[in-house]
Amino acid sequence: MSFKEGDWVLLVYEDKRYLRKLDRNFSLNVGKQVVKFEDIEGRRAGEEVKGFYLLEPTLEDIILLGFKRKTQIVYPKDSFYVAFKLGLSKEKKLLEFGVGSGASTAVFSQLAGEVWVYEVREDFYHLAMKNWERFNLCGNVKISLQDFSEAQVEENFFDCAFVDVKEPERFVEKVWKALKPGGVLASILPTTNQVVSMLRATQELFCAHEVVETLHRSYKTNPERLRPQDLMIGHTGYLFFARKRI
Ligand SMILES: C[S@@+](CC[C@H](N)C(=O)[O-])C[C@H]1O[C@@H](n2cnc3c(N)ncnc32)[C@H](O)[C@@H]1O
Repeated sequence: MSFKEGDWVLLVYEDKRYLRKLDRNFSLNVGKQVVKFEDIEGRRAGEEVKGFYLLEPTLEDIILLGFKRKTQIVYPKDSFYVAFKLGLSKEKKLLEFGVGSGASTAVFSQLAGEVWVYEVREDFYHLAMKNWERFNLCGNVKISLQDFSEAQVEENFFDCAFVDVKEPERFVEKVWKALKPGGVLASILPTTNQVVSMLRATQELFCAHEVVETLHRSYKTNPERLRPQDLMIGHTGYLFFARKRI
């Protein structure tokens, strides 16, 4: 592939990364270096120009560098693992609430057949859709501007559910009904108190409980001095998983 007007490009300059959409007025200054549209047009992914490597962005680049965020998002280190634990595939239907900035939905939608999502706040509902539209994502997502507690949901319909709201324990019974027998419930919870509430609330209706934390530590990639980065994100959330019992 070679880059043209309208494409998104990931520019890697030393240890910095920039995600930009190419238009005829495109120009990026880093230190004393300037790279412009005419330097990039027609170049292939992997090429270097003026110290910038030109690459096609991955979904992780898009979420971390391209999505506008007005809520806490689920970081890719967590959402990719959740996607795996949900057992997503093109035959599966996923239920998700709330949507927030749309980051976790963007990951799940790549692997699931259908994703049905609910967001109670109008500003976040529009924000998520804007993020998806900008990057041509989430074509298989059906979004509703609605409080999930008021949503009409078919019973035994979903293969799996992901809940990212403050008090997920309030919705346990409704999610249980919506899931097929054996279906996976996943949630992300910032505090241990919330995990305890969720464990208590799901004891009767769910089985195979798991609580997991994913720690992600990046390394400085100098082969002469390989060592971790000085700073890391120390905590995002606890990941909660359980299966619907009948
Ligand atoms: C932390 S954000 C979700 C972030 C999202 N998972 C992401 O990765 O971008 C939580 C969202 O849940 C929404 N929310 C809270 N209660 C809700 C409910 N009962 N029904 C639907 N959405 C709800 C909030 O408005 C907020 O946008």
